[in-house]
Amino acid sequence: MKKIIIQYGGTGDLALKKLYPAYEQLMGKGFEFDVLALGRRYNDRESFVSSIIDKQASADFLKHLDYLPYDMDDPEATKHLKSKLNEMVAGKESVELIYYLALQPSLYEEAIHQIQEVDSSMVCSCNLTKKIVVEKPFGFDLDSAIRYNKILETAFLDKEIFRIDHYLGKEFMQNLLIMRFHNDIIRSIWDKDSIESIQIIFDETHGVDQRLGFYEKIGVVRDTIQNHILQIITYLTMNEPASLSSEDIAVEKVKVLKAISPIEEFSMGRYESLGANSGHVVDIPTYAALKLYVNTYFFANIPIYVRTGKMQGEAKSLIYVKFKNTTKDVMHDPSIADNAVIINIHPELTIDISVNLKQPNTSWKSKPVRFRFNQAETYGANTPEAYEQILQKILQSDKSLFPTMREITESWRIVTPMLEHDGHSEVYPVRTLPRFATQLAEKNHFTWYN
Ligand code: BG6
Repeated sequence: MKKIIIQYGGTGDLALKKLYPAYEQLMGKGFEFDVLALGRRYNDRESFVSSIIDKQASADFLKHLDYLPYDMDDPEATKHLKSKLNEMVAGKESVELIYYLALQPSLYEEAIHQIQEVDSSMVCSCNLTKKIVVEKPFGFDLDSAIRYNKILETAFLDKEIFRIDHYLGKEFMQNLLIMRFHNDIIRSIWDKDSIESIQIIFDETHGVDQRLGFYEKIGVVRDTIQNHILQIITYLTMNEPASLSSEDIAVEKVKVLKAISPIEEFSMGRYESLGANSGHVVDIPTYAALKLYVNTYFFANIPIYVRTGKMQGEAKSLIYVKFKNTTKDVMHDPSIADNAVIINIHPELTIDISVNLKQPNTSWKSKPVRFRFNQAETYGANTPEAYEQILQKILQSDKSLFPTMREITESWRIVTPMLEHDGHSEVYPVRTLPRFATQLAEKNHFTWYN
């Protein structure tokens, strides 16, 4: 079967940094498909390839990479795309067209209309199947997500729609479920009887850089909280699924999301130089700190603190699960440290369990020590990139690593107060933690994990 990925946003940051390297890896592993990049920036394939494709790209990848100048505002655009696709599929018996939208959410509606138009007039006498892949954020808010979905469903069946959150392709996410559900000792401590609080820290050193045009319409809530962060929370707090099949997992994830009220305790800010290079200042939050609860029977009353955003001093992504410390009281020793599970996502994937053991040369004094799993040391550094796993699933028509529409709509509901917030937004100097993140910790009597 001839498979063609029609890459909307083919000259964009995501395509260049994540998608093309992943396509190349997959081709190297024997997956067969062509990529047709659509973009406005270049007039022909030669200048597209010579200007932005990695000079080290393999000959095989280049052979399967084509380019079509495509301006969505041009009334002739779909005509050009139709004739290009008809040319590419001529004489083939069986064809799959995979439309991949890596675009601003505000362009989805128009892109989907154009795809419908192209799709309905393909003159292939072959067996033609199709898929559509949409990047996160899916929609701009709850209403637009529902509207886009209605339009999508007029042209595609649910099994043909792949809504992306690349975090589901990450090894640490999949490991969260295995760690929780393949270990009796973890399962028995993973609830409100044992856990005191959870922190999710997702600090990035880079700014919005070349993505300014995209990011200034998105901001931190749509960029990471509505999707990556809430997905992490579902993996941390879902009840045991009937099996680890995608359907059973999705059922439990929806229950978690339904148990989260719209976020009311939050603060947001933007770093001070945002927009300086483009001559204007953009007022969209680049950092947020918040607190929420998952009000299910097993997790109610465990505060979950999140901080996430750009231009921080240190790149740090981790989950810190702090356990209750009754031992201190029972042993009448306030120096006994808290137990914790620390899942370090970046810069390297490690999982630590912190417990107290005897400090040598003392009389019954304990000290926290760590049992550590290090992914790279145990399995080598060859874990596939998240996008490679995600794209492979799309090619294989396997929907196991994609959020469902129900998850997406619940997630929009949860972040709605943050999207509607038009109050104070702190401007923080680059490389510093915004004051409001520290204030959230002070107010709630905890310390951000360091
Ligand atoms: C993307 C966001 O979805 O995730 C980016 O748009 C963010 O702003 C990125 O930097 C983080 O992903 P990763 O895979 O680098 O952790």
